[in-house]
Amino acid sequence: TTPLRQLAAAKGMRYGAAIAGDALQKEADYANLLARECSIATPNGELKWSATEPQPGVFTFTAADAIAKFCQNNNMAMHGHTLVWHTARPDWVPYPPTPSSFSIFERHVRGVMGHYRNSTVLKSWDVANEVIANSPEETDNPYGIQRGFKPEVLRDLFLLAASVDPNKKLCLNEFGIENGGWKAQQFLKTIEYLKNNGVKIDWAGFQSHLWFSTAYPFDATGFSNVLQRLKDMGVKPVITELDIIIDTPFPATLAQLDQMVADGYKRFLDLCFAGGVDTIITWGITDRHTWIRQPEWMPQIYKNNPQYQNYLRPLPFDQNLQRKQAFYAISQAFKEA
Ligand code: G3I
Repeated sequence: TTPLRQLAAAKGMRYGAAIAGDALQKEADYANLLARECSIATPNGELKWSATEPQPGVFTFTAADAIAKFCQNNNMAMHGHTLVWHTARPDWVPYPPTPSSFSIFERHVRGVMGHYRNSTVLKSWDVANEVIANSPEETDNPYGIQRGFKPEVLRDLFLLAASVDPNKKLCLNEFGIENGGWKAQQFLKTIEYLKNNGVKIDWAGFQSHLWFSTAYPFDATGFSNVLQRLKDMGVKPVITELDIIIDTPFPATLAQLDQMVADGYKRFLDLCFAGGVDTIITWGITDRHTWIRQPEWMPQIYKNNPQYQNYLRPLPFDQNLQRKQAFYAISQAFKEA
């Protein structure tokens, strides 16, 4: 069976996954799977603020460097996730950043980006993650950026990043923007604002933690329109954290569930490829290591129905690292791209 990275490369594209750094050290089968299938990888948590600068001005890169080394050894690129995010930040980091707290953010961006400035493996950064409001009540500016997060401050973060390392692709990463709805429109407005204000922004990151159900359809037109707008603005859409979670009503069998997940991948990737996406990163590669099974992230509907927790099978390989229907769906999408 042809590995995904090879199918992608045949089309000038890339397939990759988020890497769980601790498992990478302990599980040889998991490491081998990643090396075989991926041409790009994102550390699951090793580049987040709490990992890289746990104390003010004290930087540690041991865990992230181990992943970078793995990527280098296996001819994979590494995506830098993430410089500024309200989650996974130490308590002493204020949020959102403001002009008066900017120096804290500047020290962080200089410290982390600076460490990888000469890296030939790490080629892109999520400069900011999840800064767009979820609803009109959560914003106080015309671009839909979260309340209290001044557009000029977001602009200055990107300008800073570009000045620290002009050779990396800079990404604004966001969730919940795959249906073209209100939030997606704010995401586009923010990108337009940044572009109009002299910012280098190369990638628009679609996390794509997708929920599929027989009860509601995926808004294909909305998503395609967002991709078209990005094309018009000259910003590349990248799928940064794809996985597929099944919502109620639950299908009767695991086989049906796996087929729903696979169909979701195929439908979504077909739209991505038609809309100019060339990099697909799934948030993990095996159901053995997925955030959605972690107790603190498990959706309420699954917490309430423990008998269904084995339905959390959002990734292309199962817990024994066997290929699932989702794998074949992704393969097929790359072949048809
Ligand atoms: O490693 C510690 C362990 O030592 C400790 O005993 C245990 C007790 O809580 O926590 C462990 O850390 C957890 C870590 O995942 C392990 O990987 C953190 O509590 C937990 O919060 C952390 O969750 C991660 C989450 O981001 C927050 O950083 C998920 O694994 C990770 O998949 C998730 O990824 C995010 C993206 O960064 C942004 N987009 C959404 C996506 C999914 O939530």
